[in-house]
Amino acid sequence: MADSGSWFMDELERRGVSRRDFMGFCAAMTSVFAMPRAVGAQVADAIMTKEKPSLVWLEFQDCAGNTESFLRTSRPPVADIVLGTLSLDYHEPIMAAAGHQSEEALAQAVAKGGYIAVVEGSIPTGANGAYCTIGGRAALDIAQEVCGNAAATIAVGTCSAFGGLPAAAPNPTGALSVADAVPNVGTLINLPACPMNAENLAAVVVYYLTFNRWPATDRYRRPLFAYGKSIHDNCERRAHYDAGQYVEEWGDEGHRTGYCLYKMGCKGPVTYQNCPVIRWNDGTNWPIGCGHPCIGCAEPDFWDQMTPFYTHLSGFPGFGMHSNIDKIGFWGSVGVGAAFAAHGLVKLGQRAMHGHPKDLQVDEEGGQS
Ligand code: SF4
Ligand code: F3S
Repeated sequence: MADSGSWFMDELERRGVSRRDFMGFCAAMTSVFAMPRAVGAQVADAIMTKEKPSLVWLEFQDCAGNTESFLRTSRPPVADIVLGTLSLDYHEPIMAAAGHQSEEALAQAVAKGGYIAVVEGSIPTGANGAYCTIGGRAALDIAQEVCGNAAATIAVGTCSAFGGLPAAAPNPTGALSVADAVPNVGTLINLPACPMNAENLAAVVVYYLTFNRWPATDRYRRPLFAYGKSIHDNCERRAHYDAGQYVEEWGDEGHRTGYCLYKMGCKGPVTYQNCPVIRWNDGTNWPIGCGHPCIGCAEPDFWDQMTPFYTHLSGFPGFGMHSNIDKIGFWGSVGVGAAFAAHGLVKLGQRAMHGHPKDLQVDEEGGQS
């Protein structure tokens, strides 16, 4: 096979992916970024010519769901290649090395510098870090060193982005997010969800390769291109919500017809992620598409704030014909707040009205440098 001089083009050829598919992927990336299609040529040029980025993947207190998501990316194949051919210098669960060899690999990567640290799982701080140790070192110690020397850190999944299930009350291990455990981490991108969608990870890497900066984020450090709109904004069942057509119980006529799942506890109105657009399992489907309410997995404290998952939030405003969920703050201020408090949703309601997308960390060119 001819050496094109581009690690990426060589990999495309080896896997039998056509240039046409590649250009289609680049064009698709520009629409994910909400940029003109003409930017696709810049994306293509960057991917073909930039040096392969190096990744150090840390796994702490979690279920390994993000690693599973990462390993199963296959649509489009180019995204699979972007992720699959990254120089993965350290990833404990999947690397061949073990024991002292793997610790040596980590030390070498950190000494080399310039890598992207990917953190999966929360960081337990209780009992002097004894709840999660690797090679005799506490997770907090490792995170401080590895993230502290990284060019940037990407927290994948809700546990590393916000603490997730391990940090749910009463948080017996003192679990923290990366942002809380390593407050001076520098550039940090959060990709929450349970697990993160690996296509969003591919998009963040492609964005960085193309523009040499990190994407603009919201106040939770989530890329706006992936978390700028609510599930409710893009939901395929939205017309039913607006028409007052709801599932009343599992398996009823409305459920079989595909009506809105709001009364079954859907948290789509206060959850921000692009699930309805990119979907899951090679774009096959997504939770609401297969009849399950959104449980808010991309939001902070969702285990505490969004539960019970299948309970309709009585008193939730704007419920019915031609309702507008964005009026949530108004309704909260005129007395529905008590009902929200009963469900621990005051914060979420206020966020839906005031938190998105106003509090942005955006530099002059729209991204984090
Ligand atoms: Fe979709 Fe849920 Fe909104 Fe209904 S409440 S339109 S199911 S996001
Ligand atoms: Fe999570 Fe809701 Fe998407 S539960 S996967 S944010 S539809």
